[in-house]
Amino acid sequence: MDVKIALLAGDGIGPEIVAEATKVLDRVAEKFGHKIEYRPALVGAAAIDAVGDPYPDETHAVCLAADAVLFGAIGDPKYDNDPTAKVRPEQGLLRMRKSLGLFANLRPVALFDALADRSPLRAEVVRGTDFICVRELTGGIYFGRPQGRDEEGARAFDTCTYTVSEIERVLHVAFRLAVSRRRKLTVVDKANVLETSRLWRETAQRVAREYPEVAVDYMFVDNAAMQIIRQPAYFDVIVTENMFGDILTDEASVISGSLGMLSSASVGAEVALFEPIHGSYPQAAGKNIANPMATILSAAMLLEHLGLDAEGRAVRRAVDRALAEGVVTEDLAAPGEKARSTSEVGDYVASQI
Ligand code: IPM
Ligand code: MN
Repeated sequence: MDVKIALLAGDGIGPEIVAEATKVLDRVAEKFGHKIEYRPALVGAAAIDAVGDPYPDETHAVCLAADAVLFGAIGDPKYDNDPTAKVRPEQGLLRMRKSLGLFANLRPVALFDALADRSPLRAEVVRGTDFICVRELTGGIYFGRPQGRDEEGARAFDTCTYTVSEIERVLHVAFRLAVSRRRKLTVVDKANVLETSRLWRETAQRVAREYPEVAVDYMFVDNAAMQIIRQPAYFDVIVTENMFGDILTDEASVISGSLGMLSSASVGAEVALFEPIHGSYPQAAGKNIANPMATILSAAMLLEHLGLDAEGRAVRRAVDRALAEGVVTEDLAAPGEKARSTSEVGDYVASQI
């Protein structure tokens, strides 16, 4: 198969982790007889520095022309520490998601057997964890308008809005996923306080009638934050709005032992995008110490999305082997265990395919 991948490395550790993912993909191509062509494009602070725009039209065109997009990370401390900056790297990511129509972000959270004792949570708590969080990605408070400050600058405001159709389409993604899994869906909201959440709940109750085989429950987000840590194995599919999903999945990564292990797929329109859930980790940039596994696992999701299931499985097996052999970066190394570099981990995973 000929595959065209748009490669958006972005900022911070982005280029390093994406390089390890393409190393693994190249090995897959060689082993399974595919031809992968990469089209690099600028995004984030790197794109602001080069052309003054965090998501240039050129990058959008490269994404649209590709079979899939592999994305690294976005963000730079020089903008984080300057709240008055007019152009921000994160705007690039948000515009990319919106303009590519990527309204559903699938974030699998599973325990890797070899890491059961690396989670800060007790092994008996995390054992059996295997759920997917479906995060709505192009609506809610991230995109609602008005957003801004009043004239004196003494008051700031963001707006959370959702339409029924925005809620319905992401619910259908979640219900279909639940049908293909253990048929359990948890709808997470704050319907005791927020009107948008009440619309989510009402819409979910209606859509649920189309999926009688799925057991649905409803949970307030504060309680969900607790249950994810208290009994993670309870969940099968979680569906929630944009910001709740952002926060809950960083929390959920603790189960896997590191934020550096969580991959994701953003889907909705023709082209899908695959990205680790973590950020650009600027403190580690250029040091060859960041964990490349989330990006490598995102590449596995990319392969599976293109129907290359055996290839995706081969990547996952190779990752499992690296973990079992203790070939891990410093975020996962046990006390006294030698931490490997980003490229050593990538080399090892590629060698196991
Ligand atoms: C994520 C990130 C982004 C988000 C940031 C970088 C804008 O945290 O992908 O989870 O909040 O969506
Ligand atoms: Mn996030």
